[in-house]
Amino acid sequence: MTNPRSAVAWTGGAATGHLQLIDQTLLPVEYREHSCTTVEIVWEAIKLLRVRGAPAIGVAAAYGVVVGCQTAQQMPREQFDERLRIVLDYLAGSRPTAVNLFWALDRMGRTAKACARLTSAEMLERLLVEAKDIEREDREMCSAIGRHGLPLVRGCSGILTHCNTGGLATAGDGTALAVIFAAALENPGLQVYADETRPLLQGARLTAWELMQRHVAVTLICDSMAGWVMKEDRVQAVIVGADRIAANGDSANKIGTYSLSMLARAHDIPFYVAAPSSTFDLTIQSGSQIPIEERASTEITHAFGRQTAPAGCHTYNPAFDVAPATHITALITERGVIQPVTMSNIRATLQSPGK
Ligand code: MRU
Repeated sequence: MTNPRSAVAWTGGAATGHLQLIDQTLLPVEYREHSCTTVEIVWEAIKLLRVRGAPAIGVAAAYGVVVGCQTAQQMPREQFDERLRIVLDYLAGSRPTAVNLFWALDRMGRTAKACARLTSAEMLERLLVEAKDIEREDREMCSAIGRHGLPLVRGCSGILTHCNTGGLATAGDGTALAVIFAAALENPGLQVYADETRPLLQGARLTAWELMQRHVAVTLICDSMAGWVMKEDRVQAVIVGADRIAANGDSANKIGTYSLSMLARAHDIPFYVAAPSSTFDLTIQSGSQIPIEERASTEITHAFGRQTAPAGCHTYNPAFDVAPATHITALITERGVIQPVTMSNIRATLQSPGK
């Protein structure tokens, strides 16, 4: 197995380059890179979770805008702007919950508006610079999250995590996993419990794989075992990522996160959410306004190619849920730790220059 490069990367120049991904649907059995040379291929990669995890989706979408506008680089600027509008709308329809997608698209759109005098070819170059900035900033945010989160988990012998929040989900080391990597570096005896994360098994396929690649001790459990693992005192903290955090701190993340937050509370275990500022959506007041993606029933009835439920069985398959702010001990961001999780603390930290 080849060591992973970046989950999302740009190859070549603005005029003819493309987005290069690791196809995460094939891991851990096969490591294969996926070239996205058209905006349709980028859209499909996001929709099918070839690239996934909120920050990585944002970076992929930013590069997707460049790919999508290449067809208009010889056209008059007005037509380039019309093509850009179509591309932004199209990519915005790929997945609804992770706000990083909309944050990145909005930033690309604003960049074009601010550069109205550039020719189309120059504008394409400028969009690529912006997308690369988004990727670089994401990498830096991951490092800062790891740094800020470390003191919170110092002394833990076991940490529980859910879904995948590492290098595959971001442009850097990850969010929750960045904290875990930092903690494992300091305490090589740290034991990470990874929920398998039904139905698509991001925990089993991706998190266990990433941790093993980096020689961090990981124990894989079924999602339904988390409560018992807490009861047995195997973990002293839970850390998860987020796809969208409302102004009051309610945090949407992979389905199962809500239950974990309840379990952690019942066992008096700190429950941390690690996310960059690009995951905060201050336009919505609470988690009830977060759009929750519902995915195909076949993810439950025919997971990984085998029928696992009776034909015609009704299903309900929300891909995310919302951990209420009241269950979250602290939010770990690149600008610092937000504790207690209140609307005013969130605003103050996000407006600060960071530490
Ligand atoms: O459906 P996915 O795999 O995109 O869901 C990903 C998650 O829920 C992650 O926990 C979240 O995006 C944070 S990634 C740093």
